[in-house]
Amino acid sequence: MNQISINISQPWSETRPLEPREHSTWTHRTNLQMLASIVDELFQKCDADDNRSIIVVELGTWLGATTNFLCSLAKPVKVISVDLWDSEDIKAGNQVIPFAQIEKLVQQNDLFDIFQSNVWQYREQIVPLKMTTVQGLAAIALENVMPDVIYIDANHTYNDVRNEIDCSIALFGLSPVLCGDDYKWLGVRQAVDEAAQRYNMSVETIENHTWRLVPNQQ
Ligand SMILES: C[S@@+](CC[C@H](N)C(=O)[O-])C[C@H]1O[C@@H](n2cnc3c(N)ncnc32)[C@H](O)[C@@H]1O
Repeated sequence: MNQISINISQPWSETRPLEPREHSTWTHRTNLQMLASIVDELFQKCDADDNRSIIVVELGTWLGATTNFLCSLAKPVKVISVDLWDSEDIKAGNQVIPFAQIEKLVQQNDLFDIFQSNVWQYREQIVPLKMTTVQGLAAIALENVMPDVIYIDANHTYNDVRNEIDCSIALFGLSPVLCGDDYKWLGVRQAVDEAAQRYNMSVETIENHTWRLVPNQQ
């Protein structure tokens, strides 16, 4: 299996920080369905002798529900989990997540500790990057790691999603599968639809919920 080493990754605690107490997620059945079928599709394309993992970059990881799902698939998958895990940033109103929704959750625990605890059994498959999505993409490129999938599920504004798509394509070209959550959000939809035009791609969705950019045949 390919090892991923990224210098500035967030170190794991020596022991599991706390029992998993909180598994909240916004992840929808269709996201998991889409990600499982993408992993399957990529795995089919791998050489049978090619003993490598599919590398998924998850931009916006929260408490690890999607990370856990990806690591539990019967295929070798590694996840680079990028998130700020910063309740102060949410409290300051910099994100679309309303602080009131997580206030109780963070009173006792640190968001990164909850994430670690939730995904603890799969930690060998996960590289956590505690930074912004764009910094995370740059850190991955700097280490010459080529993602197979970039799953965009961080801040759902037009500008954020546009930057994440542009930055992904600038750093890695059209080879990674670019996909994400919440196509129903107007800002997300606009950023994805415009990117499809700019890069000559088509948008595929499941139930208008997940989105995936597919390069058009030349
Ligand atoms: C919708 S949640 C992700 C849900 C997650 N995929 C799951 O499976 O539950 C959005 C996450 O994006 C993170 N986030 C928001 N803006 C960010 C940014 N600029 N850089 C990194 N992470 C960000 C938040 O901290 C939050 O955890």
